[in-house]
Amino acid sequence: MEKIVILTGAGISAESGLGTFRDQGGLWAQYRIEDVATPEAFARDPALVQGFYNARRTQAAAARPNAAHQALARLQRNRPAEVTIVTQNVDSLHEAGGARDVLHMHGRLDKALCAACGYRWEAPLEMQVAEPCPDCRSPSARPDVVWFGEMPYHMPEIYDHLASATIFAAIGTSGQVYPAAAFVHEAAAAGARTIEMNLEPSAGVSSFDETLPGMATETVPRWVEGLLARRTT
Ligand code: APR
Repeated sequence: MEKIVILTGAGISAESGLGTFRDQGGLWAQYRIEDVATPEAFARDPALVQGFYNARRTQAAAARPNAAHQALARLQRNRPAEVTIVTQNVDSLHEAGGARDVLHMHGRLDKALCAACGYRWEAPLEMQVAEPCPDCRSPSARPDVVWFGEMPYHMPEIYDHLASATIFAAIGTSGQVYPAAAFVHEAAAAGARTIEMNLEPSAGVSSFDETLPGMATETVPRWVEGLLARRTT
């Protein structure tokens, strides 16, 4: 029984108009991580951090899934194998493209989290500073995204999937942020065949058995059609 584990990064949403982080003009060329994407930044200047995520949430809400998101959803639907999508992205374009049970290891823009009681709810497009938690009422609402220095979500489940993967694909990620950048090693150690689909070789490209360079909306549908055409179970 095939077990396909797919890791996606900002590159899969680039053709839907959402910025990547480390490309020319990317988000980390416009903002400093330490100003907008750490717990210390949020404590120091919650208005700046909420403003940064409000802008990204509004942009993500207006974006549409592209052919790469839709192809992965098709693979999940049509392939008897277990297909698990792990994303570093905080947009919900995989779900909008029809994917199910996506593991958002860096959280999601469309969710809010209470830092006091852990309650989660649908985030409004614009979150206010010190917004009261709908459950415990304390003014501790924050975006439900994982900041640098915080633990990514779903790690035990992700490592379980990697440990039994027969195919591991990394799509649209520069391979510069851990623990995601090491998933290819976990999958390879489990005997999986590994493939990278990226616009340009990532930092970890040499760890992959195969690479399919190019735009995700071209490479991912081609890869999925190839898998669906194969008879193997
Ligand atoms: N098709 C395929 N790949 C693309 C495309 C495209 N149309 N456009 C860009 N890419 C590739 C780039 O070549 C780059 O290697 O996508 C990759 C995006 O890399 P990053 O901007 O570093 O994004 P990502 O790897 O997802 O970053 C990981 O870092 O800042 C944190 O939390 C943030 O989740 C993010 C994490």
